[in-house]
Amino acid sequence: MIKLVSLLFLVNYLLNLHTLTIIVELMKRNLEISFEHYDSTADMDVVDQVLISEAEAATEKANAPYSNFRVGAAVRLHSGRSFHASNFESEVFPAGLCAERSLLFFIESNYADDPIEALAIASVPSERECYPCGQCRQVIVDVERRQKSPIRVIMSGAGSATVVDSAEKLLPFTFKL
Ligand code: THU
Repeated sequence: MIKLVSLLFLVNYLLNLHTLTIIVELMKRNLEISFEHYDSTADMDVVDQVLISEAEAATEKANAPYSNFRVGAAVRLHSGRSFHASNFESEVFPAGLCAERSLLFFIESNYADDPIEALAIASVPSERECYPCGQCRQVIVDVERRQKSPIRVIMSGAGSATVVDSAEKLLPFTFKL
């Protein structure tokens, strides 16, 4: 009798385990992100190449004595105007700011009525493409939401570039207030 009860318990346990596995499988979702990759920036639209050049030039204005990592960012607005900024490191370390956020805060304060079409990022050293940090990603998405139109993010370096047509793709499950 005890053996039979034990067996029933075991069968019940295994059935529950099986059901749980099925439920977990059903809850799974996949996230697919599409992006463009250019082995050579020379293959890109001229307007994007020009924006990358502006971001590259902006690296020269960086103040990065501590990390020696110079970042340049440039935006193209709907009107066709462009602006750039670079990272600024402070003697009070946390007070410094990334190139992208410096630029976006300036644009939001001065040209909020002229939506950002594209944002290009470049760095020195440049052995690889420069991708925005997590905090910058959040702010780019914030701006995108505020202006209600997607921002093309062009991440360049080492002569190549990766591009997303909307900043949201760089930060799925974004924080929202
Ligand atoms: N930095 C940026 O300017 N943008 C980023 O997205 C990531 C990092 C700067 C901050 C700091 O001055 C240096 O790069 C090294 O982290």
